Amino acid sequence: MADWIASRGQPPRGVLQVPGDKSVSHRAVMLASIADGTSRIDGFLEGEDTRATAAVFAALGVRIEAPEPGVRIVHGVGIDGLRAPVAALDCGNAGTAMRLLAGLLAGQPFASRLVGDASLSARPMARVTEPLARMGARIRTAEGGLPPLDITPVPALQGIDITLQVASAQVKSAVLLAGLQAHGTTCVHEPRPTRDYTERMLRAFGVALDFKPGFARIEGGQRLGACEVHVPADFSSAAFALSAAAMRPGAELRLPAIGIDPRRTGLLHVLRAMGADIEVVPDADDPAIGDILVRGRQLRGIDVPVEAVADMIDEFPVLFAVAALAGGVTRVRGAQELRVKESDRIATMAAGLRALGIRVDETDDGADIHGGAVQGGRIDSHGDHRIAMAFVVAAQCSAGEIRITDVANVATSYPGFAESMRSVGMSLRDA
Ligand code: S3P
Repeated sequence: MADWIASRGQPPRGVLQVPGDKSVSHRAVMLASIADGTSRIDGFLEGEDTRATAAVFAALGVRIEAPEPGVRIVHGVGIDGLRAPVAALDCGNAGTAMRLLAGLLAGQPFASRLVGDASLSARPMARVTEPLARMGARIRTAEGGLPPLDITPVPALQGIDITLQVASAQVKSAVLLAGLQAHGTTCVHEPRPTRDYTERMLRAFGVALDFKPGFARIEGGQRLGACEVHVPADFSSAAFALSAAAMRPGAELRLPAIGIDPRRTGLLHVLRAMGADIEVVPDADDPAIGDILVRGRQLRGIDVPVEAVADMIDEFPVLFAVAALAGGVTRVRGAQELRVKESDRIATMAAGLRALGIRVDETDDGADIHGGAVQGGRIDSHGDHRIAMAFVVAAQCSAGEIRITDVANVATSYPGFAESMRSVGMSLRDA
């Protein structure tokens, strides 16, 4: 098992390029594969998760070329051109892959089986299979609504009007991809708005649909036309160096051309409320991307607004690390979804921070993190990429070395993370 040793390095300084957005990369390969014609994707994340999605579509008969790193040429086969797979489709660690594929494959005229690694095999899938079943899909899960998913073809799916129980872009996207293939209209209402990449990308591929924050409507029976996709740098990956710099006086870091979608950047508001000095300079040609400039400051704990939770759902591990080093208490509530991510992120962060001498009071849906002095120690990332990266951030202000175990999965979302962090002055090495 791969481990890291992280310790107090220099305050991060300089310019850091961040790899492509994971959510956008998954969707780009999926939609390009079912479009008519050849699409080009650049900025594609060369991570294990997004490569797993590309491998799934190759197994479904789609020719995907990778002429250079970060580029994919996808020879789309059309919505009716996928081939029956000869083996189970392996989504690896990627919840986005499995949940979106469930919606897409539910409407296809062949049987398929979706499998994942140990972490993904413990994540809830009823949240997608239940709405899809209401559309007429036949998907069997293992006991308790867990993977693998066995999808049996049905003559037709029916559109639905559904109010989701959880604020989840993955569930919304699964329903929309099924709705694309269903008879009639599908409407999805969300309890809180989530990222709308599926909606925006469907539109870019020529699909007519209506959407606004918290709502989307699609008519079944539409075809997709090929297009060019430019994947922005991933805000969730930028969040680690950004946070490490924000809390360290003397730091000054620029993160160029990051995707600054409001449904993803809740962490910026929270860090600013904690006292961070962060400037966002939108690109003159594309307001969806921008440079983020951050200067280090001593931060203070806050109550994280519940409305911010969905907009920073992947940033809680790093926020917990920042909170451990801020003055006072940071209170997180309304974040029970964290318990069903790649690990139980409330429990994993709480256990890790306690091992480093920080007081954390857990609740079902969050925690109170009491800022203090982070000691050296050993923490278990539970194979969760964002937990491993969050403790590298915590280590930048720690008194001793922190050994972080089981870090190989960082490659699912952030290949080259260790080199990148070292390049801006942070201290991190293989154990
Ligand atoms: C994602 C949505 C989020 C997020 C995940 C990626 C997506 O999950 O945590 O990392 O690409 O749609 P939920 O929508 O289930 O909250």
